[in-house]
Amino acid sequence: MANNTETKLDKIASLSKRRGFIYQGSEIYGGLSGIYDYGPLGVEMRHNIKQHFWKKFIVEREDVYGMSAAILMPERVWEASGHTELFTDLLVECKLCHERVRADQTEAVSEHEEEHKKEKKTTEWSEPRVFNLLVETKLGASEKSATKVYLRGEITQGVHVNFKNILDSMHPKLPFGIGQIGKAFRNEITPRDFLFRQREFEQMELQYYIKPDEQIGREMFEIWKNHSLEWYYSLGFSKDNLRLREHGPDERAHYAKNAWDIEYNTSFAGWKEAWGIHHRGDWDLKRHSEYSGVDLSYHDNETGEKYIPWDIECSGGVDRAVLFVLLEAYTEDEMNGEMRAYLKLHPRVAPVKAAVFPLLKNKPELVEKARVVYETLKKEIGGVMFDDNGNIGKRYRRQDEIGTPYCITIDFDTLGDDTVTMRDRDTGKQERMKISELVSSVREAIK
Ligand code: GAP
Repeated sequence: MANNTETKLDKIASLSKRRGFIYQGSEIYGGLSGIYDYGPLGVEMRHNIKQHFWKKFIVEREDVYGMSAAILMPERVWEASGHTELFTDLLVECKLCHERVRADQTEAVSEHEEEHKKEKKTTEWSEPRVFNLLVETKLGASEKSATKVYLRGEITQGVHVNFKNILDSMHPKLPFGIGQIGKAFRNEITPRDFLFRQREFEQMELQYYIKPDEQIGREMFEIWKNHSLEWYYSLGFSKDNLRLREHGPDERAHYAKNAWDIEYNTSFAGWKEAWGIHHRGDWDLKRHSEYSGVDLSYHDNETGEKYIPWDIECSGGVDRAVLFVLLEAYTEDEMNGEMRAYLKLHPRVAPVKAAVFPLLKNKPELVEKARVVYETLKKEIGGVMFDDNGNIGKRYRRQDEIGTPYCITIDFDTLGDDTVTMRDRDTGKQERMKISELVSSVREAIK
């Protein structure tokens, strides 16, 4: 059990490392700030969240296509999208140590001032200066001929630049959407709060193209706002811990006519952005038409009209969802007179769906039967663990800590009647169940 001075975020970061969810990037070389690597359990959990997004925003819909664009894109794309000019933060520089901090991050500013106060010094800040967040690199053999390219600052532009390709190859009718999941990169000056603000992170997005019409725009915006919120709840959040908040006009990104955030009530800094819904109007397609010289308008064959569609965007951070799911799930309680810390994960996102135990390790008939049950479940469900190490109580604790919803024990009765015990992680209650019902029962829970 973690000690009392640790915050919930510290406890989650330490559990994540100890149990193979998330590690500091390149840790053995001292780590890289704002960069994280996912271990065996973390990668499964992240995959489950992405799969669920793909299912609910793409696969189950008739009007949405999926795609996957490249990370590297030429400078011209980012000039067109407005990012080279407008994707900026205001920074202030400490005149004592020359460290730069985002002017709008009051917490980081005061933390910095506190550090100098300890040395009996008073911080003096420079005037705020504009700093661009795009991460650039070069492609090409020689320094001279190399071309400047950017690692995408949002995955969005890969969809917009393929708008014509999708029209020409799939012939969709408006309204329709294009969904994507992939990495984005931002040169965040103060990456902080574990996975919350990173420099390399993953986004899941939908660009939904509509006829340019105010009424349709309003209706579609509401539909996608509600769909996004419902989807976020379905990751296992309580109603009280998520809310929708409208951006004020001075808060909106340069491309947005209207913007709302889904926010999560974090333990470390109150309400924080999890997901954005943006009305991007015709900003992107119009600019890419101008900058590329390729007409990106849509022809309506039924009415004969030709126009640049508007875009309603849903955009969520995958890693931020992982962090918020972990924060929501982390629970400390007492079971059978013992304190336990565990992850109350929704079975849908849990990296391990079920663990299979033979009651005793030294009884070959139990081990053999448990292996058969394990192998069947692993083949049918995936995400199943076998554990015969230590007493049953310890095995339960180990699975609780990583959020495994069900523990299945093969005991002497199993050998006679093909039933097992299935223990529920949250209540600790055990139910006797036929082996033949296990697959459908676990499948139902993770749908
Ligand atoms: N295409 C629109 C867009 O990128 P955004 O609000 O800048 O909008 C969308 O980002 C989502 O991406 C955010 O709601 C957040 O979940 C995630 N995100 C943004 N910056 C991030 C960062 N530095 N680290 C982790 N996640 C981030």
